[in-house]
Amino acid sequence: MKTRVAIIGAGPAGLLLSHLLEREGIESIVVEAKSSEFVRGRFRAGLLEAASVDVLDAAGLSAGLHKNGLQHRGIYVQWPGAKRSVDFVSLGGRPVWVYGQTELTRDISDARFAAGQQMYYNVEDVALHDVDSTAPYLTGIDATGRAIRIDADVIVGCDGFAGVSRGSIPEPIQRSYERRYPHSWLGFFADVAPSTDQIIFAWHPDGFAMHTMRSASISRFHLQVPNDDHITNWSDDRIWEATATRLGSGENGWTLHTGPITEKSILPLRCRVTTPMRHARLFLAGDAAHVVPPTGAKGLNLAIADVTLLARALGAWKRGDESLANAYSDTALRRVWRAAEFSWSWSSALHTTGDAFGDQLQLAQLEWLTSSPSGGAGLAENFSGVPIAFA
Ligand code: APR
Repeated sequence: MKTRVAIIGAGPAGLLLSHLLEREGIESIVVEAKSSEFVRGRFRAGLLEAASVDVLDAAGLSAGLHKNGLQHRGIYVQWPGAKRSVDFVSLGGRPVWVYGQTELTRDISDARFAAGQQMYYNVEDVALHDVDSTAPYLTGIDATGRAIRIDADVIVGCDGFAGVSRGSIPEPIQRSYERRYPHSWLGFFADVAPSTDQIIFAWHPDGFAMHTMRSASISRFHLQVPNDDHITNWSDDRIWEATATRLGSGENGWTLHTGPITEKSILPLRCRVTTPMRHARLFLAGDAAHVVPPTGAKGLNLAIADVTLLARALGAWKRGDESLANAYSDTALRRVWRAAEFSWSWSSALHTTGDAFGDQLQLAQLEWLTSSPSGGAGLAENFSGVPIAFA
């Protein structure tokens, strides 16, 4: 098979890229290791920045979002004895949207199926070849066990944190930056209406807690736990007890509503950025190039920003101008590092370390961010998101 752009991975990055490329008049083929049902059912992030919504609006992909998403003007930040509402809009930021990545993935894949996108699911052993040449190609084994080969002008690795594309950037050129954190997140969903109208970020001596939501009837929570903790240590009763304590249920007239827990798991917080995001005819986008701690909800938004920049760059290249493609890695990485720095500092302000001096510094930081106009403006700008082509 032959195409202009071979895309590896049908997560939000790969699917949206194929959609945006079509609007640039560029044909692509997507190959994905998992089944379509698996990809469409996977639970992941769920917060969209205004700039991401702009992209989806312009691409004709936002009907579901505007029908079922929840627009939020800000967040609550709290610690024992204090609850502050941070209104992004009045601080110069923009509103954010709560809309599940699962729903967004379905919306985009429905649009791609309707447009007749060439997509191959259940493709095993994907390998990249000759990315240094002007005739790169992919090989793999398709769902029927047949060997496939896709020749392309460029290959884009949208294959997530554990993908294979990154490995095709040779060692002397590739550099990965990594930060490990001493804590993990216990995340769970519950079939109960959210007990809050905006996302709550809570500092507590027992550890960070977060209350967010998927819909009017599904709540989502995260609790800071040690890295060596295991989900079998956390019965549903223990989870609700810890959540109620950390979120201050029963204080200041606020009550946490509980319900059946439908899914719970523990995931480590991590940050890894791989550079460059382009090598010869290979481009990386989304989690394939970078993962950041989820506290700032940046992963999905970075993936949307990357493929927006990349589709524009490949469109310009098709028209004879390679300058945006040459600048892609630097342009995307400026935004990635902004998000990595924000995710790091926001995480650092909220996750306790067991150090009494550190606790006081965190509380001073949260006090400043939620009471000073300049502190609040920085939080609002970063949380609600910088422009796609951030400079
Ligand atoms: N061959 C083909 N497909 C692969 C391979 C491979 N070797 N390895 C991984 N994939 C597929 C995965 O199965 C997955 O469907 O690539 C896809 C990558 O999708 P995501 O992990 O969702 O990554 P991305 O599209 O970059 O989405 C952005 O940021 O913070 C997160 O939650 C957010 O998942 C979201 C991500």
